[in-house]
Amino acid sequence: MNLLTQIRSLFEPALTALAPDRAKVPDLLAAIKPASNADHGDYQANCAMALAKTLNRPKEAQQVAKEIIAALPANDVLEAPTVAGPGFINLRLKPDFLAKAIAGIATDAKLGVSLAVKSKRFVIDYSSPNVAKPLHVGHLRSTIIGDALTRVLRFLGHTVIADNHLGDWGTQFGILLYGYRTFLNKEAYKKNPVRELARLYVLIRNLTTTVDILSRGFTHHRDEAAFQTNAVAELTRVYINGLKRASDPDDYDDEGGAKGPPAPNPVANACREETAKLHTGDAENLKLWHEFMPPCMEEIHKVYRKLEILPFDHEHGESFYQPMLTDVVESIQAAGVSEEGEGGSLIIRFGPENVSLIRKRDGAFTYTTTDLATVKYRAETFKPDVALYVVDFRQGQHFANVFEGARRWGYTSMALEHVKFGSVLGKDGKPLKTREGGATELMQLLERAVELGGSLFELIHWKRSAQGHDVPNWDEFAEEEKTNIASAIGIGAVKYADLSQNRTTDYTFDFAKMLATNGNTATYMQYAYARCRAIFRKGEVNESRFRTNPPALITSHAAERALVLQLLRFPEAVEAAAADYSPHLITSYLWDLAKSYSVFFENCPVLKAETPELKDSRLLLVDLVSRVIKQALDLLGIRVVERM
Ligand code: ARG
Repeated sequence: MNLLTQIRSLFEPALTALAPDRAKVPDLLAAIKPASNADHGDYQANCAMALAKTLNRPKEAQQVAKEIIAALPANDVLEAPTVAGPGFINLRLKPDFLAKAIAGIATDAKLGVSLAVKSKRFVIDYSSPNVAKPLHVGHLRSTIIGDALTRVLRFLGHTVIADNHLGDWGTQFGILLYGYRTFLNKEAYKKNPVRELARLYVLIRNLTTTVDILSRGFTHHRDEAAFQTNAVAELTRVYINGLKRASDPDDYDDEGGAKGPPAPNPVANACREETAKLHTGDAENLKLWHEFMPPCMEEIHKVYRKLEILPFDHEHGESFYQPMLTDVVESIQAAGVSEEGEGGSLIIRFGPENVSLIRKRDGAFTYTTTDLATVKYRAETFKPDVALYVVDFRQGQHFANVFEGARRWGYTSMALEHVKFGSVLGKDGKPLKTREGGATELMQLLERAVELGGSLFELIHWKRSAQGHDVPNWDEFAEEEKTNIASAIGIGAVKYADLSQNRTTDYTFDFAKMLATNGNTATYMQYAYARCRAIFRKGEVNESRFRTNPPALITSHAAERALVLQLLRFPEAVEAAAADYSPHLITSYLWDLAKSYSVFFENCPVLKAETPELKDSRLLLVDLVSRVIKQALDLLGIRVVERM
C-alpha cells in the first residue's frame, strides 16, 4: 500500500472530470506530494494552479481548488481538504485510516510494500571487473549499487538475472602473457599466483610507460649533437622532459600511450602480439589463459564474499561471447547497419564525429562488438523486458552507441539502460586509486573497514556500560560473533556511504564519516535498530503479538503521528528507488525515519507510558521502526546487529 498512490487515485477521477484535456491528468497527479511543511498537512495537492491555466481561468486557482475538492469521491482516507494561498490543497489523513494502515503493515511481512502490478524481467550487468587487471573502487561501486538494485527489484516481485560481465579477454592478458614470459618469478608464482600476476601486470605497465616516454623523447625531441657527445646525458634529459609532459599518469592507456606524437614502443608491441595470439587461438597462450583465470577469479570472489553480495546468476565474461563475434558482425553487416571504415575496418556511424569500430583493420573485434553480441545473447536467452548496465558514467558514450547500434540491428524487444554512477574520490578530491595492488588492495580496504567496525562496536559498548546501561559484557561474545558483528558494521558502513549518495555524483571515501555514530550512516541506523530491540528486552515484552494481533493505535502526541506517517511511507520510498534505480531514496527515507523516531523517543515514554494501552501502542511503533530499518537495510545488502 503506497499512500501517495492511494491519494492520487482519489484525485484521478476528479481531475479527469475537470481537465479539458485528459492527457494533462498524469502531470496534474504528479503535483500531489508529501507536504513540505508538516504544519500544513500530510500531503499537498498543487494541481489547482496548473488546472486553472488549462481551463483559461488563471486567476481563479482558488476557486478551481474548491471545485477539485468538491469532485473528490467520498472516502475514509482524507479529512476535509483545505485550500491555502493561491490554491494549494492541504490534505490530512484521518486518524482511523492511520490506525488501520498501521495495523495493516504490522501484520504484513513486506511492511506494506506490495508487488509490482506488472512483474518484469531484468538482466542487470554489474560489478563486471576486468580479470587480471587491478580491481578498482569503481568496480566496488558497481557491485554495491547493482547488488542493492537486484534486491530492491526482487523484493517488488520482479525477476532479476544478475550477470557479471567479466572483462576476461582484453589486452590485460597480453600484458600478463608478456610479463610471464619475460619476468616470471617461478617461486613467487607457485606460492601465490595472483600476487605474482599482479606484480607482473604493474611491472609491465610501468615498463611500457617508461619505454613510451623514452621513445617519444628520443624520436621527436633529441638534440643529435648532444646525443653524439654524451648519449646517456641526452637520453636522460629527454626522458625527464617527457616525464614532465606526461606527469599525469591518467594520460596513459593500457598500452601506455602518452600525450604527443607516437613513437615505436617494442614492449607495447610485444604485449599486443601476445593478445592477438591469444585471440587467434594460439595453444600456448590459451593454456596460460586457462591457468591464469581460476586464481584471478578466486581473488575477485574473495572480495565478493567479504562484501556479502548476492551470488551472480551468470558470470558470462567477454571470452564467452568470442565464438559468436564473426556471426554477429556478419549479421550486423547484412542488416546494413555498418559501413566500411579505414583500411578495411568496419564501423557503425552515429554522427559526423561519432563512430564505433566493430572490426579493426587487423580483423580483431572490439569492446563494442562484444557488447552487441551480449545484447543479442541476452535478448534471445533471457528474454528480459529491461537490461540495466551499472557502469561508471565515463562509459556513457560507449553505451549510447551500443544501445543505438542494437536498435538499428533490430534488437528492440528489451529496454536498455545505462545506470551510471560517479567516481569515488580520496580525501584529496582526486579519484581514489588502488592501482598498484588491485584486488588485494581493495581487499585490504575492506578488511580495514571490518577492523574499524569491530573497534567501533567495542567503543559503543564501553561507552554505554560507563553510562550505566545494562549492556552485555564484550568478553561474553564469542570470537565468531565478534567478527560477524564487525563485518556487519564495517562493510555496512562502506555500502551505506556509497548508496546514500545520489549515484550520479562523485563521493569521497572517508572512514571517519562513514562510521560516524550520528548522521546518515549505516552505523546510526544499526544503532537505532539495536536500541529498539533493547526496549523489548528491557521490558521483557514478546514482540510476536505486535505482528499478529497488533494493539489499537493511539496518537496522543504530534511526534507519534509524525512517526506513523513516516512508517507508512516505506512503500513510497522502495517504489521510488526502484523506478529511478536510485538506492539513495531508501537511505534518505531511513534518515527521515530515524529523525522522526528520535523526536518520538525524546517526547513519548514507551515502557513508562501513562496507560497500558498507550504503552502497547508505542511498543507497536517501536517494533515497526525496527522492522522497517531492518528491511530497508536488507534491501541495501546491509545487516543489523541485535545487541549494540
Ligand atoms: N569490464 C568493464 C570495465 O571494467 C565493464 C564492463 C561493463 N559491462 C559491459 N557490458 N560492458 O570497465
